[in-house]
Amino acid sequence: MAEGTWYAGDIDRVIVTEDQIRAKTEELAKQIAADYADADSLLLVGVLKGALMFMADIARALGRYGPPVEVEFMAVSSYGQGTTSSGVVRILKDLDRDITGRHVIVVEDIVDSGLTLSWLMKYLRSRSAASVDVVALLRKPDAVKVQVPVRYVGFDIPSEFVVGYGLDFDERYRELPYVGVLKPEVYARS
Ligand code: XMP
Ligand code: MG
Repeated sequence: MAEGTWYAGDIDRVIVTEDQIRAKTEELAKQIAADYADADSLLLVGVLKGALMFMADIARALGRYGPPVEVEFMAVSSYGQGTTSSGVVRILKDLDRDITGRHVIVVEDIVDSGLTLSWLMKYLRSRSAASVDVVALLRKPDAVKVQVPVRYVGFDIPSEFVVGYGLDFDERYRELPYVGVLKPEVYARS
């Protein structure tokens, strides 16, 4: 981890390094480009805010290999405990444009229970997308249980709370170039 940064002292362990993220993003972009070689274009739908870094990097990598991309963003929030189990999601920011007939790729930071994602995929299909696939940088073990079809996955990580590369704790740590686990005292401080 980078010494001399304000956050270095808060990080317990790095889970996925900057180099690993760079190499994996390149690999995923090549796969997507090969699978969509016949498509005129791809519509990347980033899920705010966590996907911000991954969205930028995967879009740049697709620029080297893939069909032209367009980018859209959505913001969603899961309802509290009781309702989350039914996968009900509130849209905070909807798509700005019609997606009828488009090849959509949802760009996600992390898939945990998978409920947000399965709701989102249903929603995008109901908006008449030609296809809906998902690329997620990270996946936690619980995601396997709910059988969300995440076609492109960067890294399977343990069920621990992680920050960095778009992921936050209390809106902080999104700017970290890697994914890591915070020291216990950071939580005690807040
Ligand atoms: P699901 O519906 O798959 O929700 O349970 C995935 C969303 O939960 C958040 N999430 C995390 N955020 N560190 C974070 O900063 C984590 O370790 C983490 N695990 C899940 C995230 O918003 C993701 O989109
Ligand atoms: Mg968060």
